[in-house]
Amino acid sequence: MDPVMMELLAKALEKVTFTMGEMEGVPLPQDTCDAWETIHNFQAREDDIIIATYPKAGTTWAQEILDLIMLEGDTLKACRAPCFIKIPFIDLVPIKPMKSGVELANKMESPRLLKTHFPIQLVPPSFWEKNVKVVYVARNAKDCMVSYYYFQKMNKGLPDPGTWDEYFSTFMSGKAPWGSWFDHVIGWWNAREKHQILYTFYEDLIEDLEREIRRMAKFLGKDLSEEAIEKIKQHTSFQAMKDNPMTNFTVLPKAVFDQSVTPFMRKGKVGDWKNHFLVSQNEVFDATYKKRMEGVDLTFRDLL
Ligand code: A3P
Repeated sequence: MDPVMMELLAKALEKVTFTMGEMEGVPLPQDTCDAWETIHNFQAREDDIIIATYPKAGTTWAQEILDLIMLEGDTLKACRAPCFIKIPFIDLVPIKPMKSGVELANKMESPRLLKTHFPIQLVPPSFWEKNVKVVYVARNAKDCMVSYYYFQKMNKGLPDPGTWDEYFSTFMSGKAPWGSWFDHVIGWWNAREKHQILYTFYEDLIEDLEREIRRMAKFLGKDLSEEAIEKIKQHTSFQAMKDNPMTNFTVLPKAVFDQSVTPFMRKGKVGDWKNHFLVSQNEVFDATYKKRMEGVDLTFRDLL
């Protein structure tokens, strides 16, 4: 983003007073709720590819992988713009001078990659009318919670998470922005056979990135050369994305993402929850997980 735009954005944000609202019982930024008609009426196109996630599940990682698959490994083109510009976030409303996700998307040529954090019941109906392809990324709730806690500390567009203990309660009661992790992962899981949804896991990306790149490429109908796959692998490693201004969000001013609190590309690991969860919190989580996932044929690993 150019420096003038960054300054304007920083100024605009100084005046923003942040509030949360609710849509069909799901906590969302009030601005998103106010723009609901526009978001709900968003017109998808048949060749759109949607990246859907609960926040902090590895959205940016999947965005970069999918963009590079579509570009057949052209890493120069992948650096054409910051990830939040080249892949519009349709849930997001404008903060002048930044355009809303819907506005950005409407102006884009096809095929478009789009991002959403909405639980399945809130996505624009045109997604299903146009039978779009969706890549859903799920991440185990414990690591998601830790990542979200730090993110809410540094993202000035979201409520302050309070203490870790307070945040644990917020997250477990489904009151974090975009709602309950359980409802989100289960809702998208149950829809995967009815729609064109590729359900993937952050932990699988960590385990074998190449395998997951091939899986995503196959889903998108892209036959990639070995050289392209290798390039995608290198360009989307944690370190490469941490060093890349187009993926590490350092182009955003401190008034938006204060990376002196914690970097956006924080740890990129499985199991960091073990450094945060108290024994008592772990017990509460495990009991809730057991209850909520009963009868659902969806399993998350790395929770023990
Ligand atoms: P941590 O906070 O645990 O480090 P999202 O893009 O959905 O906001 O998710 C951000 C999380 O994904 C962060 O997790 C970030 O470090 C991690 N992440 C992003 N790119 C990654 C990569 N290439 N490899 C591993 N983790 C990555």
